[in-house]
Amino acid sequence: MPLPKAGTIEIAPSILSADFGKLADEVAQVEVAGVKLVHLDVMDGHFVPNITIGPVVIAKLRKHSKLIFDSHLMISEPEKYAQAFIDAGVDNITFHIEVAENPPRLIEKLHKSGISASICLNPETPVDAIRNVAPLCDMVLVMTVHPGFGAQKFIDDAAKKVIEIRKIVGSNIRIEVDGGIDATTAPIVIGYGADTLVVGNAIFGKKDRTAAINDIRNSVR
Ligand code: DX5
Ligand code: ZN
Repeated sequence: MPLPKAGTIEIAPSILSADFGKLADEVAQVEVAGVKLVHLDVMDGHFVPNITIGPVVIAKLRKHSKLIFDSHLMISEPEKYAQAFIDAGVDNITFHIEVAENPPRLIEKLHKSGISASICLNPETPVDAIRNVAPLCDMVLVMTVHPGFGAQKFIDDAAKKVIEIRKIVGSNIRIEVDGGIDATTAPIVIGYGADTLVVGNAIFGKKDRTAAINDIRNSVR
């Protein structure tokens, strides 16, 4: 299933802060809370200083969830591994502009494979780096922390790039923010023009996931 059409606010719980020992149960808990997406952070220990999961785990998880799998590839060679993630059953691949060899070619491949394509930029990467690529995508992901770990502090200067990106992409392309999003920062990024909120620690760091999701929903009403 592709990403929901732009125009709605969506929360994408990030499993990075979940219990990886019982991943399917954790994902089921946010599914019953009514979210449409789950955010899967893939790290290679090279592009970022941490290692998480890959296509093998995602393919197994796919059998346990009907949620839209929003995969965020924090890996050095997205072109090399894209097919493995497509085969694993992800619905969206987000790759980083800092390491992509030929972004338009990869976006075309993802679209031909029937999945959504998104481009991501790190806090220190200027908006100019994605100016030509963003309009080809279904979503732009603006990192609001340095990628690699959950529960870091929100970087407002990075989030402000959303304002400029919204001017570039108009209203038909989603803008997702990732890092330090909670009930306090969610209204700030929505104000800048984001519509898709990745939330790790502020959901999976809490016992009651439905209550945590509702807190964030209420903060942006
Ligand atoms: C960070 C990851 C995020 C992370 C966000 O590198 O890309 O998706 O899980 O976590 P929180 O919401 O805890 O900042
Ligand atoms: Zn992420």
